[in-house]
Amino acid sequence: MTIMENRIDMQDGGRDRGESMVSIRNLTKVFQTRHGEVTALKDVSAEVRRGEVLVLLGPSGCGKTTLLRCIAGLEFPTAGLVEVHGRTVYCSEQGIALPPNKRNLAMVFQSYALWPHMTLAENVAYPLKVSGTPKEEIAERVNAVLATCGLGHLAGNFPGQLSGGQQQRVALARALVANDGLILFDEPLSNLDAKVRERLRDELTEMQQQFGFTAIYVTHDQVEAAALADRIAVMEVGRAAQIGDPQSIFNEPMTPYVADFVGCSNELEGTVTAIGTGSQVECTTPIGTICGPGVDGDLRVGEPVKIMFRPEHTRLVDPGATGQNVFRATIDRSIFLGSHVENIMHVADHRLSARSMKGAMLGGGEAAVLRIDPSVIRIFRDGRARD
Ligand SMILES: Nc1ncnc2c1ncn2[C@@H]1O[C@H](COP(=O)(O)OP(=O)(O)OP(=O)(O)O)[C@@H](O)[C@H]1O
Ligand SMILES: [Mg+2]
Repeated sequence: MTIMENRIDMQDGGRDRGESMVSIRNLTKVFQTRHGEVTALKDVSAEVRRGEVLVLLGPSGCGKTTLLRCIAGLEFPTAGLVEVHGRTVYCSEQGIALPPNKRNLAMVFQSYALWPHMTLAENVAYPLKVSGTPKEEIAERVNAVLATCGLGHLAGNFPGQLSGGQQQRVALARALVANDGLILFDEPLSNLDAKVRERLRDELTEMQQQFGFTAIYVTHDQVEAAALADRIAVMEVGRAAQIGDPQSIFNEPMTPYVADFVGCSNELEGTVTAIGTGSQVECTTPIGTICGPGVDGDLRVGEPVKIMFRPEHTRLVDPGATGQNVFRATIDRSIFLGSHVENIMHVADHRLSARSMKGAMLGGGEAAVLRIDPSVIRIFRDGRARD
């Protein structure tokens, strides 16, 4: 089974990368299990620049943790090369395999991984102690980082006396004190409730800007990815589907897989009926004619396409509205979601959802008129969906 195969660095338009902090070349990891071999990483290459936050965003089982563990030295790859700070820390061909403590990096886990019998200050001091840092310097650095992380008043407490959010802050403080160069994060916020998660995410961004550390951050939460990343790599089974800055990933997904992953949940099959100027395409679909820009510039009349768009780009409009991409719908139900209302409806037997930011909830069976914003529709060659 092939889980992740990609060349993250090859898909970024060749712009200036700055100084490399992590370099991964042709990394493969095969696990031997009772049921046979599992290839978790296959020929993965990636480049992370100094001071950059690269977020690996992908579904469960695509190899995100395995990749981080191979960089950290907690897992040895089957083949390939890993460089950190310009130094080879793993090379299958040369037989180099440095242990984690020789790689000059820190890792923050989902489970906090604190020592329960040590106070918070002792936990944070631990990596400095292990590396033989003088006592006075340890005290100075621990106090400074605890203050930065808002934990000074809790220094004498044990992890069991802290909330999940506080414990994860301790883990972050421990990572920062040990190493402000490279920190690997494996879903560090996913055990926390929504409000704490949001606050810690913002604190993390502020600390990253303050300390300037390089981060490789794994998550399957697209909002977290967008908020934290300089670049996002959307991982798909077998490869990196797309890499780019958050805006390009969310506004210009280049494949149906990425579009679906970042929230283009409305989907229609269609056929191209006309090609206009620029990349404008007109298609017939089960709900009527739709116009929008073609993602694939070389679409031809008669080709099957997949049309995808977000609920927030699908608006309920005045009942008298006419024109391009306007359709008559019947509401199935409206769901109040706090900040907005999600309206589930059908148009000619096809289920779509539209978002309204405010306004009345609509009842089942009510008539509505919707307009799909033509500028943000993604029209893909349908063959891509089956790749
Ligand atoms: N020690 C192991 N032994 C055997 N197979 C493993 C081992 N660790 C991971 N795998 C397999 O490798 C694949 C990738 O696992 P990995 O934990 O890296 O995924 P992930 O992207 O981090 O998923 P999640 O989002 O669920 O944490 C999975 O199929 C997993 O079962
Ligand atoms: Mg994982």
